[in-house]
Amino acid sequence: MTDPANERSPRVPMPSEEPTVPAGYANGLFDLKGRVAVVTGGGSGLGQAIAVGYAQLGVTVVIADVNMDGAAATLATVQTVTALDSLIF
Ligand SMILES: NC(=O)c1ccc[n+]([C@@H]2O[C@H](COP(=O)([O-])OP(=O)(O)OC[C@H]3O[C@@H](n4cnc5c(N)ncnc54)[C@H](O)[C@@H]3O)[C@@H](O)[C@H]2O)c1
Repeated sequence: MTDPANERSPRVPMPSEEPTVPAGYANGLFDLKGRVAVVTGGGSGLGQAIAVGYAQLGVTVVIADVNMDGAAATLATVQTVTALDSLIF
């Protein structure tokens, strides 16, 4: 008897042509300049990385965290990459 877990999935046919991507298509997808982002848990870890990343993209960042020391540390880092106003709460 054949074990279904070992059976190969049917081959998905490849499209006959490569997909086309218009020139400059990706340029506007992540243009967040001038936006405001509230980053919950921005005082450490992923939230901190996201806050700093947003700042690099020209986003005004609001860093929300129960750990004010962490939030302050994120704010200090954010202020090294942008002159935009940012705040913590
Ligand atoms: N690190 C990973 O690889 C990973 C992967 C998948 C999912 N996650 C999830 O993503 C989230 C963040 O992960 P992390 O590694 O950055 O964790 P982390 O502990 O470094 O960061 C969490 C932050 O949230 C803050 N926080 C906790 N409760 C809060 C509240 N009520 N209001 C505001 N801030 C609050 C903490 O003070 C801390 O600064 C977690 O839920 C984690 O389970 C993490």
